[in-house]
Amino acid sequence: MISLINIVCIFSVFSLALGRHTLKIVEGEDADIKDYPYMAAYTGNKGGRLICGTAIINENTLLTAAHCMFFEKPSEATITYGATIFYEGTQTNISQTFIHENFTGKSPFTNDIAVLKIDPPLVFSETVQPIKLPQSNTPNPEGKIAKFAGWGISSFEIFHITTKLQKVNLTITDNETCEGIFKGTDHPVDSEKQICAQADTSDGKMRGVCNGDSGGPLVIDGVTYGITSTGPGGCGNSTYPTIYTRVANYIDWISDKL
Ligand SMILES: *[C@@H]1O[C@H](CO)[C@@H](O)[C@H](O)[C@H]1NC(C)=O
Ligand SMILES: *[C@@H]1O[C@H](CO)[C@@H](O)[C@H](O)[C@H]1NC(C)=O
Ligand SMILES: *[C@@H]1O[C@H](CO)[C@@H](O)[C@H](O)[C@H]1NC(C)=O
Ligand SMILES: *[C@@H]1O[C@H](CO)[C@@H](O)[C@H](O)[C@H]1NC(C)=O
Ligand SMILES: *[C@@H]1O[C@H](CO)[C@@H](O)[C@H](O)[C@H]1NC(C)=O
Repeated sequence: MISLINIVCIFSVFSLALGRHTLKIVEGEDADIKDYPYMAAYTGNKGGRLICGTAIINENTLLTAAHCMFFEKPSEATITYGATIFYEGTQTNISQTFIHENFTGKSPFTNDIAVLKIDPPLVFSETVQPIKLPQSNTPNPEGKIAKFAGWGISSFEIFHITTKLQKVNLTITDNETCEGIFKGTDHPVDSEKQICAQADTSDGKMRGVCNGDSGGPLVIDGVTYGITSTGPGGCGNSTYPTIYTRVANYIDWISDKL
C-alpha cells in the first residue's frame, strides 16, 4: 500500500478518477521481462518504491522522462533491472543525470527527457538488453502498433502500483489528429517534439498507460520512438491519447551523453 501523495506525484498531470472505475497499465496483461529486456525501473526507497520506467540504451546509459527526476532526486534513487517483479531486480546507482535544459515541467510540457548514467554498469543477459534509438528526425510511425510495458498503476480500486510488469499494445496516433485533440488545452501537442499513442478501447474498457508508467519507452520493431510523458485525459481514456516525448527529435542531444 502506498500513499496518495506518492501516486499523485508520480504522474501529477494525470487527473485521477479515483473510485469511479476499475482500471487495470490499465487493462493490460502480465508481461515477462525476457520480452521487454530493455525495461528498468527508476526506484526510491532503496529499490522498494517504483517512481518511473526507463529504457536501457547501453550498459551505462538509460533514457527516461525529465519529470521523474522531480519526484525522487537521482542522488536518492536507484535503478533496478532484470526482473519481471521490479524489486527482485539487480540494483545500480545513478552517477550522473542530464535533464533537458528546456524542460520546465509547465505547459506545454515539451522536452520531457533525461539521460541517466549508472555505476556499476549493467551486465547484459537474457533479461537485460539495450533498445535501439531511431534515426534523427524519423517521421512519426503513424498508425503503427507499439509495444509498451510498465510497472505503473494497474488498479485504482485497490489503489496500487503493480509489482509485476504489465504490457499493452498502443497505436501511434496520426500527428495532426493528436494536435487537433489537444489544441487549445493546457497540453498543446507539437508533433516535432511529441508523439501520441493510444490503446484499443473498442471493447468498451478503459485501457492504457497510467501513473508510474512515465519514462517508459514506446517501442516498434526494437526501436524506441517515444518516452512516456503525460496523459491529460487520465488513464485509459478512449478519447485522449497519451503524450510521449518524440525521441527522433532529440538524437543529437542524447548522442552527446552516450
Ligand atoms: C550505491 O551507493 C550506495 C551509497 O554510496 C552504496 O552503499 C551501494 O553499495 C551502491 N550500490 C551499488 C550496487 O554499487
Ligand atoms: C533551449 O531553448 C533555447 C531558446 O529557444 C534554444 O536556443 C536552445 O537551443 C534550446 N536548448 C536545447 C538543448 O535544445
Ligand atoms: C506529421 O504528419 C505529417 C503528415 O503525415 C507528416 O508529413 C509529418 O512529417 C509528420 N510530422 C512528424 C514530426 O512526424
Ligand atoms: C499486440 O501486437 C502484437 C503484434 O502486433 C500482436 O501479435 C498481439 O496479438 C497484440 N496483442 C494484443 C493483446 O492485442
Ligand atoms: C477523458 O479526458 C477528458 C479530458 O480530460 C475528460 O473530460 C473525460 O471525462 C475523460 N474520460 C473519461 C472516461 O475519464
